[in-house]
Amino acid sequence: MFLAISPGNPSAGSSHPTRTTHSTIATTVTNSNVPYERDRRTIPAYDALPSYRTLQGELDAAYHRVMAGGMYVLGAELEAFEAEFANACGALFCLGVANGLEALQLALLGFGVGPGDEVIVPAHTFIATWLAVSHCGARPVPVDVSETTFNLDASLIEEAVTPRTRAIVIVHLYGQPVDMDGIRVVSTRYGLPVIEDASQAHGAKYGGRCVGSLGDAAAFSFYPTKNLGAFGDGGAIVTSDASLIERIASLRNYGSRTKYEHTVRGHNSRLDPLQAAFLRVKLRYLDRWNLRRQEVAAAYTAGLRESAAYRLPAGTNDIFHVWHQYVVQHLRRDSLRELLAERGIGTALHYPTPPYRTAAYADLGISERMLPVTERLCGTVLSLPMGPHLTDQDVARVIEAARDCS
Ligand SMILES: Cc1ncc(COP(=O)(O)O)c(C=O)c1O
Repeated sequence: MFLAISPGNPSAGSSHPTRTTHSTIATTVTNSNVPYERDRRTIPAYDALPSYRTLQGELDAAYHRVMAGGMYVLGAELEAFEAEFANACGALFCLGVANGLEALQLALLGFGVGPGDEVIVPAHTFIATWLAVSHCGARPVPVDVSETTFNLDASLIEEAVTPRTRAIVIVHLYGQPVDMDGIRVVSTRYGLPVIEDASQAHGAKYGGRCVGSLGDAAAFSFYPTKNLGAFGDGGAIVTSDASLIERIASLRNYGSRTKYEHTVRGHNSRLDPLQAAFLRVKLRYLDRWNLRRQEVAAAYTAGLRESAAYRLPAGTNDIFHVWHQYVVQHLRRDSLRELLAERGIGTALHYPTPPYRTAAYADLGISERMLPVTERLCGTVLSLPMGPHLTDQDVARVIEAARDCS
């Protein structure tokens, strides 16, 4: 039996989730006092609203606290979140910034990445991973991913290293931590810092250690649909490197640590205290919500194992996968997607076009032949509905439809 998790008492611990038997998908939303009923027949690929509905009391209290406090940029609320999130990641420091893209960019700038440099990135990722490199004036150098884990294939990194390489960005894609041991062999050999793009993996673990503390620095996105999502844009940089965090603290705040003293040409990129307050509430539920995602993923795997048309995602040993997405591969992905939509099952594509095939990167002239796994994946991957709000009935409906349509 798989049942969706209701908020319960966070202090009760994530191993004893409170359970509820009613569907949390069908919700009435009040927008400008005009209520509308969500379509009960559709299970969307992802849904940020249930987390508000579930924690409304605590979130509204956080909103009133910040509004009444009168501090709307930087300040104690943000610092409290930063301390709590660093602690949750097993790292010493955290800085909240405007979004995940800027978290990555500021981390790279903190390592001194600039024009003329090259940075190794996975070929199969959201384009933001690449844009962060480009916005530093550097060149993203793609390396293919593993067909089993969807993550950077550590065995292919070395041949992409040149004298210009300044850093390796890894992405814990879909919630699955990267093979850090393999990455560390290469990064140590060439003295390259490793920056984790942990935007899809809040709370995931590798070898018992949390993402965010695996590399030299990590960038997180708090986009609303992430495992830890704000109610607007948000991001954070996490590290245990004191001098790096000092540089980034200046970079996120106009290049200044002391008012009107500007040591570098910085940015304005700060996480709003309001979003920090919301994230403090949601952080207390992250572990139990990740456990629910694991239950949903296990149910999908058990339910679709016999359907030969699907290639199902495989976890590896020694990791705690947090299932930001449950991604199947299917040779007739697009028609399958349409059939599922007709059955009221929403799906998503992560990602149909690799960054190097977008107009934004046409000038790099990257050959598709060099990246065969990414080329295959972009035509076959399909993300099934995922989230801690899914009920057992939802999961059963998705499985039934996916079996019928395969
Ligand atoms: C892997 C990855 N990197 C970076 C980002 C960028 O985060 P944001 O949307 O907060 O800028 C995202 C978010 O979608 C992401 O999934």
